[in-house]
Amino acid sequence: MKKILIIGAVGQIGSELTLKMRELYGNQNVIASTRKTEPSQKIKESGPFEFFDVMDRKKLEAVCDKYKVDHIVNMAAILSAVGEKDPMFAWDVNMNGLINILETAREKKIKQILMPSSIAVFGPGTPRVNTPQDTVLKPTTMYGVTKVAGELLCDYYVRKYGVDIRGLRYPGIISHETLPGGGTTDYAVAIYYEAIQHGKYTCFVRESTKLPMMYMPDCLKATIDLFEADFSKLKHHSDFNVAGMSFTVGEMATEIRKHMPDFKIDYQPDFRQAIADSWPESIDDTAAREEWGWKPAYTLASMTVDMLTELKKKLK
Ligand code: SER
Repeated sequence: MKKILIIGAVGQIGSELTLKMRELYGNQNVIASTRKTEPSQKIKESGPFEFFDVMDRKKLEAVCDKYKVDHIVNMAAILSAVGEKDPMFAWDVNMNGLINILETAREKKIKQILMPSSIAVFGPGTPRVNTPQDTVLKPTTMYGVTKVAGELLCDYYVRKYGVDIRGLRYPGIISHETLPGGGTTDYAVAIYYEAIQHGKYTCFVRESTKLPMMYMPDCLKATIDLFEADFSKLKHHSDFNVAGMSFTVGEMATEIRKHMPDFKIDYQPDFRQAIADSWPESIDDTAAREEWGWKPAYTLASMTVDMLTELKKKLK
């Protein structure tokens, strides 16, 4: 049985991925970890949990030894908006954390690393519609810089040392379990919370802003499908484009109004507008479809029904 260490297990994706992986691979085989945020009861009670900082290599190695870890999933990252407020912190966590994981994996002969990337690798010079798999990577955020460097570094470790590393470029992830932690795409989650709680939302990007998004069940499926993929069939490794859906904020508001006709929205763009404008509108994920069979299930309409239903239960 695999022994999987999930680093960053209390974040938006990590918290749900931990529970999903425990269901699939056995509670005791999935070790959750984070730097300092207290985990949910569900995570604490369903399997092993460790507090440590990914920048602390000794502790990382000790945890790998303690549980005989052979797979590492790294969900720890400082996202685009927080990264612009503290670029050095983003560099430290995203790059020095990653190199610790890669070196630990190389030395301890860890069987597989899953290291996510992001649509933040793209920049203003990248084609914005149906952004190709292999294209210009000149991001303008520190988050994007670290994700490009991370992809290159991971591919280097695959080539040079034969480490099995996989990664996918997450679009904005929408979910109702754990809030996202400081990204530009956070508005696509906040809009649903605010609709349920206050019937209105002030959005920090313009109505016409269109970005690639994905609903959490698709995100978990993409992550686990890539985790399970046959490594020998992969031509790409650390940088798979994955598409879910693409829509403007205005289109989200219209979809919400189908269920809540009185929902109101206004717009006060801030510094995150420029970040959004530098990212693609839609993604070409042919490589992921061909190399490991990726296929999303959710649309804006089906996600909206699900988000509103779940948040009504959670928030009322
Ligand atoms: N959700 C991320 C962000 O907005 C993109 O990967 O920073």
